[in-house]
Amino acid sequence: MSRTRILLVNGPNLNWLGRREPAVYGRETLAEIEANVLAAAEAAGAEVACFQSNHEGAIIDFLQAEVPSAHGVILNGGALTHYGLSLRDALASLEIPIIEVHLSNIHAREEWRRHSLTAELATGVIAGLRGHGYLLALQALLALTHEPAQRTDGADAIAR
Ligand code: DQA
Repeated sequence: MSRTRILLVNGPNLNWLGRREPAVYGRETLAEIEANVLAAAEAAGAEVACFQSNHEGAIIDFLQAEVPSAHGVILNGGALTHYGLSLRDALASLEIPIIEVHLSNIHAREEWRRHSLTAELATGVIAGLRGHGYLLALQALLALTHEPAQRTDGADAIAR
């Protein structure tokens, strides 16, 4: 495993971006978002594998198959964020950083959308920045995966 490899995973209904409630999710299509992330990764010498499914099990199958050769995950679980217990359990066994992304600001929407089952398993969460959120997530993962391992003797705290 030499090049940094990131998984970009989108859940239900995100294949309809562009025509799906544009006032909430914007007019950018998923293909455009993926192309931007792929270009940014390429410029940074990293690799991205994109996957979208409307089926929770298919997302879990993808993660289980791909995580052994990956360094991080960018995940927009769509509505599975709020009720996808199987997805939540699958994320609990991944040992690589996960950045959860939402195009809309889920905290400014309906009450039931404000709770994420998956956020507690994420290293970070980005919400409300439309397609830019995915690019920021990529940037964060590249930085995190290049960070030297934390020292346990406290010396790194002093160095900062
Ligand atoms: C979403 C927010 C979810 O509540 C919704 O079900 C989605 C998209 C977002 O990107 O803002 O499908 O994850």
